[in-house]
Amino acid sequence: MAKTGNRADNGETVNEATERRTTNIGRRAVLTGGAVAAAIAAAAALSAAGAAAQPMHDQGAAREFAGKSVFITGGARGIGLATAKVFAAAGADIALFDVATPNLAHVQYPLASDQDLELARSTVEALGVRCLSFKGDVRDYDAQRRAMETVAERFGSLDVVVVNAGISQIGRMEEFSSEEISTVFEINVSGAVKTTQAAVSIMQPQNSGRIVYISSALGRMGNELFPVYTSTKWALIGIAKSAALSYGRSNILCNVVAPGLADTPLANNPVVLGRMMPNVENPTFQMVSEMLEPGNPIPVGHVEPEDVAHAVKFFASEGTSKVTGEVFDVSYGSLARSIA
Ligand SMILES: NC(=O)c1ccc[n+]([C@@H]2O[C@H](COP(=O)([O-])OP(=O)(O)OC[C@H]3O[C@@H](n4cnc5c(N)ncnc54)[C@H](O)[C@@H]3O)[C@@H](O)[C@H]2O)c1
Repeated sequence: MAKTGNRADNGETVNEATERRTTNIGRRAVLTGGAVAAAIAAAAALSAAGAAAQPMHDQGAAREFAGKSVFITGGARGIGLATAKVFAAAGADIALFDVATPNLAHVQYPLASDQDLELARSTVEALGVRCLSFKGDVRDYDAQRRAMETVAERFGSLDVVVVNAGISQIGRMEEFSSEEISTVFEINVSGAVKTTQAAVSIMQPQNSGRIVYISSALGRMGNELFPVYTSTKWALIGIAKSAALSYGRSNILCNVVAPGLADTPLANNPVVLGRMMPNVENPTFQMVSEMLEPGNPIPVGHVEPEDVAHAVKFFASEGTSKVTGEVFDVSYGSLARSIA
């Protein structure tokens, strides 16, 4: 089990210094919408006074999440980081919680590193919002609870939790060791339950919150090459629907985004690519995407992490304030042939 919590202090110390430099309202106001790319490049040169003098135009819908906080497990890279950037561009303060341990026992490929987590934090901050980073494992309830308490104290509330951290595991059913089976269930399933428990312990007293779970298209079907992973992603939908029933009267809405193949290190790594195209030497992610594409109703074989991020934001927005217990597929129509 990875160490937990001990990077929160470091992260906050760095953040405190950065917060003083970055949290003036004027600067946040200009770092929105189409201005984001240009603003990142110019950010280092902006003085506080200069930023405050920037025009306040171009806010509108892009500021939808100003004053809100978003806590993302597995936020150091991939879908988690893309989600952080989409919410930050809409004005939200962000917290990234990630195990940041490349060689986690019984995981087939490297997870994010400390450097990934630090880079993610500074990338989000460059969008003009506050960002806290926490090194911790979703298998640890206490670490998540402490991190979420810190977020609520520092940002004023815990508004959105994205239950995103997860690992993939490829192979035929009979190949997995007991430790591998336990690890994928402990992270993807028990971890998601513990994230939910920590989130509702803070959201219930607030009487508000949104929880968005990242399942998978493989959480809607069987798959010979991902038999255990698939079952963990089915389980996630059960957790989300049960949470929707349990916490609806506390004004906490719980929904699921189910992505198809996404271009992140979880899928784009030699172990997964090699097993998906066993007869090809050094297969690439693009080859796998092109292999899958003809079976889909639209000519697309994978999604980008940002495609998933926008669906997550949808479930956190005002427009879905009467939606809970639902699943939104972001999978290029691959599920159009499934039963409802
Ligand atoms: N990439 C895909 O094709 C795809 C498709 C469908 C669903 N998903 C799901 O999307 C989610 C995000 O995956 P991704 O594709 O961005 O992968 P990724 O590997 O790029 O990112 C996952 C992040 O989670 C972190 N993490 C892993 N175990 C953790 C733990 N125990 N505690 C805390 N953090 C942990 C990793 O360090 C990493 O930063 C996962 O739940 C995954 O199952 C991915």
